[in-house]
Amino acid sequence: MLQRRTSQSAEAVQRGRMPQWYYVMLHPSANLSAAEKQQLIAGLGNTFGSEGGFRGEGFPVGGGRSGD
Ligand code: HEM
Repeated sequence: MLQRRTSQSAEAVQRGRMPQWYYVMLHPSANLSAAEKQQLIAGLGNTFGSEGGFRGEGFPVGGGRSGD
């Protein structure tokens, strides 16, 4: 459960869906560079665990969306 949430968070960051655009508009420093995204994703995995780790460009393995 926690690992699934972690990989969803990583995916949201990777795809540029999070942080929300209106938040980034008000807080430009929240606009993460590619390197910052990778660091955040790696940190999420290190902190909460990842499903089998991350592959390639830090994309979560087995992370696909379930449900929606
Ligand atoms: C890098 C920082 C952030 C991460 C990693 C993150 C992660 C996520 C994830 C994984 C979801 C999906 C939850 C689900 O599918 O159940 C989500 C939803 C959401 N987040 Fe974020 N979030 C971030 C920043 C923000 C910020 C700054 C805002 C608002 C100012 C925000 C507002 C929302 C809202 C409103 C939703 C639910 C609606 C939707 O899916 O669009 N998030 N977030």
